[in-house]
Amino acid sequence: MIQIPRGTQDILPKDSHKWQFIEERLHAIAKNYNYKEIRTPAFESTELFVRGVGGSTDIVNKEMYTFKDKGDRSLTLKPEGTAPVVRSYIENKMQHDVVQPTKVYYMDPMFRYERKQKGRYRQFVQFGIEAIGVEDPLIDVEVLSMLMHIYQSFGLKDLKLYINSIGDQDSRAAYNEALVDHFRPSITEFCTDCQVRIDTNPMRILDCKKDRDHELIRTAPRMYDYLNEESKAYFEEVKSNLDAIGIGYEIDYNLVRGLDYYTHTAFEVMSDAEGFGAITTLCGGGRYNGLLEMLDGPHETGIGFALSIERLLLALEAEGIEIPEPEGIDLYICALDEKATEKASHIVHTLRTKGISCDIDYKRRKLKAQMKDADRKGAAYTIVLGGEELSTGNVELKHMGSGESKTVHLDELHTLLEEK
Ligand code: HAM
Repeated sequence: MIQIPRGTQDILPKDSHKWQFIEERLHAIAKNYNYKEIRTPAFESTELFVRGVGGSTDIVNKEMYTFKDKGDRSLTLKPEGTAPVVRSYIENKMQHDVVQPTKVYYMDPMFRYERKQKGRYRQFVQFGIEAIGVEDPLIDVEVLSMLMHIYQSFGLKDLKLYINSIGDQDSRAAYNEALVDHFRPSITEFCTDCQVRIDTNPMRILDCKKDRDHELIRTAPRMYDYLNEESKAYFEEVKSNLDAIGIGYEIDYNLVRGLDYYTHTAFEVMSDAEGFGAITTLCGGGRYNGLLEMLDGPHETGIGFALSIERLLLALEAEGIEIPEPEGIDLYICALDEKATEKASHIVHTLRTKGISCDIDYKRRKLKAQMKDADRKGAAYTIVLGGEELSTGNVELKHMGSGESKTVHLDELHTLLEEK
């Protein structure tokens, strides 16, 4: 039997309403903050991620689904959404759009070849936003406030927002040097990945899952102490404005993020809920001031975040928050014989075109089984069609909730249901 690929999942009809509920909410919140949807392809040139996300990151090194197409081009299923959005921004010269800054969001499947674990999939859906074309602490605050608004709108409480500043390129370079001095003498005590990272990307040692309990991680120099005056001032302004609008956060000086493009504000949201599982990061993001130029774009900067709907659902489950059940159909027509079934199929055809959701029994079961079916399908009303109803055109319209019924003519059905 052919099985679903490892690390992927089917969203079954019994669960898809949960996704739709979340997706609708996310579209609505994005509208609130005036972000417009952008859709980029499922695959991009591999080079985009190597240059954009960074050749020394786990995503590029270990996790990409890369393949050659028939024209011998190297393509990669997108592992994240920021580099594609920036590619599109540059290609479509959005810096010249009349509406500025560019504020976009996406809700797209992403692909990473990761070890399967609760909350970690090889295909997952990210909702992400990017604000490109403005460097102002207040837009950083807007991005963070939207993020926390999203979680609060679903009723989630056991969350923590962690922020840090990675500073500008100069601060980052100075900090990297300090880290190399700190780790180099004992680097053989670290995992083989970290032994490479010390030369390619020392900041990532702080983020290592294997070595996180090593004493030298705890005693490592703090990024904050290497921020230059400008970077410090930027960070202070972000923090004071978060305070002003009452958004709680904690500073995590070791938060460096797993992608290379970050500068200044970086952040993650973690779940504190019991039973959430080992992977507690719900969302991550930050500012990327050099990314556009790195991809041969204009001198513009951006900031954004991405969260996966899979982990949002896990957080809701962990906090016992239920998503409302979907509404059932408006009407179910039971039919007593062949002729009535045929007529019922004509009636539902007309009613559906008038915007009424309705169904019949194509399995031609007995009346009792049809009533059960109506109940399972959440029908608000039912009617029963038999010989008499067909000859008079009058039917008993039964309200399933109250059990009350009244006689109506078949031609009036649609108006009555619209009134309900
Ligand atoms: P990221 O931290 O790699 O950042 O991923 C963001 C979020 O995607 C994670 O916090 C998590 O919710 C979700 N996620 C990542 N991997 C998986 C997985 N294997 N299974 C389920 N969920 C997953 C980025 O992707 C950046 N592009 C975010 C960003 C936008 N930065 C600036 N703008």
